[in-house]
Formats: sequence, C-alpha cells, structure tokens
Amino acid sequence: MAGKLEGRVAIITGAGGGLGAECARVLASQGAGVVVVDINSAAAEAVAESIRASGGKAIGVSTDVSQEADVKAMVETVVSHFGRIDVLHNNAAILNMEQRQKDRDVINMDVDAWDRAMAVNLRGAMLCCKHAIPEMLKLGRGSVIFATSGLGAQGDVTLSAYAASKAGLMMLAKSVAAQYGKQGVRSNALQIGLAPAENAHETMPAALLTIIRENHLTPELGTPRQIADVVAFLASDESSFITGTTIVADGGFGSHTPSMVGMKALFAQSGSNKM
Ligand SMILES: NC(=O)c1ccc[n+]([C@@H]2O[C@H](COP(=O)([O-])OP(=O)(O)OC[C@H]3O[C@@H](n4cnc5c(N)ncnc54)[C@H](O)[C@@H]3O)[C@@H](O)[C@H]2O)c1
Repeated sequence: MAGKLEGRVAIITGAGGGLGAECARVLASQGAGVVVVDINSAAAEAVAESIRASGGKAIGVSTDVSQEADVKAMVETVVSHFGRIDVLHNNAAILNMEQRQKDRDVINMDVDAWDRAMAVNLRGAMLCCKHAIPEMLKLGRGSVIFATSGLGAQGDVTLSAYAASKAGLMMLAKSVAAQYGKQGVRSNALQIGLAPAENAHETMPAALLTIIRENHLTPELGTPRQIADVVAFLASDESSFITGTTIVADGGFGSHTPSMVGMKALFAQSGSNKM
C-alpha cells in the first residue's frame, strides 16, 4: 500500500535529533522525500543516512534557520535535488541547557538569550516560510506546520522568551493560512505536550518529570512517535480541511483547571477518590 505522502517532499527543520528526527523518519516511511535540516550538519546527515539505509528518500542540509542566506540556499538545494516542496515543518528551536538557564523570568532575563530565542524559533520559521512557500504556490498546494508548546498559551515562571516565541508562531500559522489559503497552502500550529526523546528523560530531573506527568491526563508523557504521527496527518491530505488553527497534542496538559492536581491530592487524603 502506498504511503499517504508518496511523491511529496517535506522540509523538517531541527531534524538532526529529538522530535524532528522522528518526524523525518515517519514522513519518509509514508513515502515523502525528506529534507533533514539542522544547524548540526553531522546530525542532519546521520538522520538522512539512516532513512536512506532503510529504503527512504532523504538528504541532510546544514542550515542555521535564523540566517536568511542559509535558508535561501537550503531551499535552492531542495529544489535542485527534489524539484518541489509540499511540506514545511518548522520544528527547530534553541533549547540547549545554556539557553534554558539564561531564558528566565523577565527581570532576570539575559537579553541575548531573548534575542536568540526570537531569532531561531520565530524569525527562523518566518524565513523558512518566506523561501519555501513560493515553491508551494507553484504547485498550488502545500502544508506548513509550526511546532509550538503549552508555554506559548499559558503563563509559567521561566522560559519567557521561548514562550513568547511559541505564542508568535501560533499567530504566524494563522497569518500564513490567511495569506495563501486560496492558493492551496494550509498552515497550522501543533501545540505539543512533554514528549521527550528517549535520551532526554535522563537529563531531566525526576522531580520535574513527576510534576509535569501529574499534569498530563494520560498515564504517561508523550513519545516522539505520537507527535510525528500528528505531523504526518497535518502534512497529508487527510487534514485537507484543517487550516489556520492550533492542533493540540499534549495529553490534556493544557485542558484542565489549574487546581486539578491539588484537588486530587486533597480528595486522596480524605480517601474520597481513587483517580
Ligand atoms: N520535546 C518536547 O517535549 C516538546 C514539547 C513542546 C514543544 N516542543 C517543540 O518541538 C520542537 C522540537 O523539540 P525537541 O525536544 O526535539 O528539541 P531538540 O532540542 O531535541 O531539537 C531541536 C533541534 O533544533 C536544532 N537547532 C537549534 N538551533 C538551530 C538553528 N539555528 N538552525 C537549525 N536547527 C537548529 C538543534 O540542533 C536540534 O537538533 C521544538 O520546536 C520544541 O519547542 C517539544
């Protein structure tokens, strides 16, 4: 049976690891030619090579998405290799430990960290849209996806720049949908709950994971595969009437009252529930 993305070409930014790499593998398994974009060229090439080794079509392209010249060159490489662009998944974000430690509450914000978050997460996605969408318009079709987070919709005590950049992406998804929808291009944000890659569990403090897990309504946190399956859906014609919106794949993290976890604990103390 042909995959639902047979003949399509998908650019996935930040696909040298984490969720992006899993998206690249899943879209390739559905027949797409995949462009594995990452600032880490060795990582991008390794993911592309592993996809080719399992019979898929993929190239790795080293790109800093915050730099317009890089993005323009990346799109030219894709067009010369694959001849078309059907899907752009704006997944890249700057999330390394150094950035997380400097992107704090606003009075303790490192201004360079703020600028980096905006440059990579928000300007990077805009630049990829700016250069990839003209290729979609030539085809009269396309799907643009933006990886966002609950932090882009709900206030929290830290990661203020990350959060603002993700809120910006939700709006950018709507702008793109309004601007090019009549020409066949759909655009949606994907609000993701915690879905750590296997190795990420080890680097996150257990106490932090417990707090976050308790606020998901599913038994467990998400997996990269659960997110990649939604990306494949948004990339494909199965979602052809969905545009200009935010799809939430967060295990219910953003759906409940802020008091839910405390209430459960209170009821449990009195033995009045077994939830
Ligand atoms: N993993 C989660 O639980 C989770 C939850 C909510 C949202 N998200 C979002 O999903 C996306 C992927 O998250 P992840 O956990 O896989 O992150 P990750 O840090 O594992 O991967 C991000 C990738 O982006 C690349 N990158 C960083 N700067 C870049 C640049 N300037 N140009 C090109 N590539 C660059 C990195 O090299 C890395 O490979 C992000 O947008 C993130 O905000 C993830």
